[in-house]
Amino acid sequence: MSLITLKDLLSHARENKYAVGAFNITNLDLIDTLIDAAIEENSPIILQIAEVHFKYLNFEEIGPAIINAAKKVRIPICVHLDHGQSFQTVMRAIRAGFTSVMFDGSHHPIEENIRQTKEVVNAAHSVGVSVEGEIGAVGGEAIGEQAATAHAAEKSLFTKVEEAIRFKEETNTDAMAIAIGNVHGLYKGEPDLDFDRLIQIRDATKVPLVLHGGSGISDQDFKKAVSLGINKINFYTGMSQKAVISVKEYLDKTPGAISYPDLVGKAMQSVKETVRDRLRVFGSSGMCTAEKSICISCDEESCQLEDPRFKPESKTVLYSDLVERISKEVLDQLK
Ligand code: 13P
Repeated sequence: MSLITLKDLLSHARENKYAVGAFNITNLDLIDTLIDAAIEENSPIILQIAEVHFKYLNFEEIGPAIINAAKKVRIPICVHLDHGQSFQTVMRAIRAGFTSVMFDGSHHPIEENIRQTKEVVNAAHSVGVSVEGEIGAVGGEAIGEQAATAHAAEKSLFTKVEEAIRFKEETNTDAMAIAIGNVHGLYKGEPDLDFDRLIQIRDATKVPLVLHGGSGISDQDFKKAVSLGINKINFYTGMSQKAVISVKEYLDKTPGAISYPDLVGKAMQSVKETVRDRLRVFGSSGMCTAEKSICISCDEESCQLEDPRFKPESKTVLYSDLVERISKEVLDQLK
């Protein structure tokens, strides 16, 4: 299965009432960590790079690295540009082979947001790439040390139902990020999601909805949001925070530490655990097993496929691998 568009992935999520986790990649180590977490959970996943994080990486190098890694596994992976700020950045992502892009024009007045988003949709759809847009404004986006400042959601920026309808009809995006009390980064106080607004937007637009600012939202609220129509959840600060805490704990316990790979290993282990846990809460765990499978697959028991590339924890196989194996067996018997 490997690469999948956001449109196809979220259509399966809508049908099966779960949300796909979208996690931000800021360095090479995260690629395998996130993919392993998804494989171990038999879950689809969205690997995304946010334009604000370009300063941490070489986009033209790491983008293809993510795509190559994603192509080698059998769980469905969507490689997505998060918060693209311009048409040019969207084109860079498409050229790199991303299957999906977000264009965020939410800071513009609605007319301009629609105009620019439409331009992106026309270009991306013409080459089969999905598009996420944003209506209303989530806010709170910050990087590095600035991300330690907590933000409260700004009610005047919440998504208005009428604007959501207009945005959907005029732009034809495949997914829509909405503001219902969610903010990026740390929350000032407890998040207070406006579920009534979510229901109204869902019923009026019938488009897969995206919840940004996942870190800090309770499991109970996630489950409720998913049951009410959220199909993609963006999550980053929480895993970054866990990585920092685990490094600090390791250094406190091991004052003489000099091994950088061990340090990174601790951080990545805690990211993997956090992500696995989120995938369970979002309801996507197990969606790649035989009976729920988003790809053409069978379970390990029935096919007995043994391939060193495939992790034993994962239960699905690619149809093409299965055909290859059967063809080989038939050929061997003919010989
Ligand atoms: P958090 O960092 O708050 O989890 O939000 C991530 C996000 O929405 C990326 O677009």
